[in-house]
Amino acid sequence: MMHHSSFPEEGEKDLQWSEFIDRLFETAAPYLAVRGDADHTAVSHGYSLTLLQNEGGNRRIVEPAVILHDVGWSVLEPENISAAFGVLAKGEEAERLNRIHETEGAAIAEKILRSFDYDPGLVESIRDIISRHDSGETAPSLEEALVKDADKLWRFSRTGFWQETARQRLNPQTLLDFLEARSRHWFFSPTALRLAQQELFTRRDEINNLPS
Ligand SMILES: [Fe+2]
Ligand SMILES: [Fe+2]
Repeated sequence: MMHHSSFPEEGEKDLQWSEFIDRLFETAAPYLAVRGDADHTAVSHGYSLTLLQNEGGNRRIVEPAVILHDVGWSVLEPENISAAFGVLAKGEEAERLNRIHETEGAAIAEKILRSFDYDPGLVESIRDIISRHDSGETAPSLEEALVKDADKLWRFSRTGFWQETARQRLNPQTLLDFLEARSRHWFFSPTALRLAQQELFTRRDEINNLPS
């Protein structure tokens, strides 16, 4: 995979890239299935493409990092997973488990990317981003900013919002209020903030039209 032929035609290069992305999704699938993260990963990957288009950044870092960022949940027991994430997760134990999904995820991602003979420099950048994708409050690079923004945007999407209310047993209005309060200082890129606000507008409409 990722053979570097000297001067590939533009179209050919795109095809190779999309094949690589497909294979990466396939390889990540069993890890992502443990917490039920297939939809989360696909939706966040979709957002990352829009972010890359509007903000720039290296897609050879951003796309693999988004696809692999949550593979680390696969090492935790199911009962620990539910204690470790979401708007109600609090405390030292939740934090410890959350750190495990970051560090184990970074190690698994590195192993997967090496199996594709992926560029070692890029592997290192991707591993570092995954190792702090949730806990890190700064983004030292544009690529890291876009990965974190794409991850958070999931909760604002139609699929993500309604899946998270079910998965975290939240009242939709409670989640909406939480996201509205956080969105203003959550995102690194202006594109992500704009997308989040558009999504919230639609989610509010959906909540107001729920059958009572
Ligand atoms: Fe995560
Ligand atoms: Fe995530």
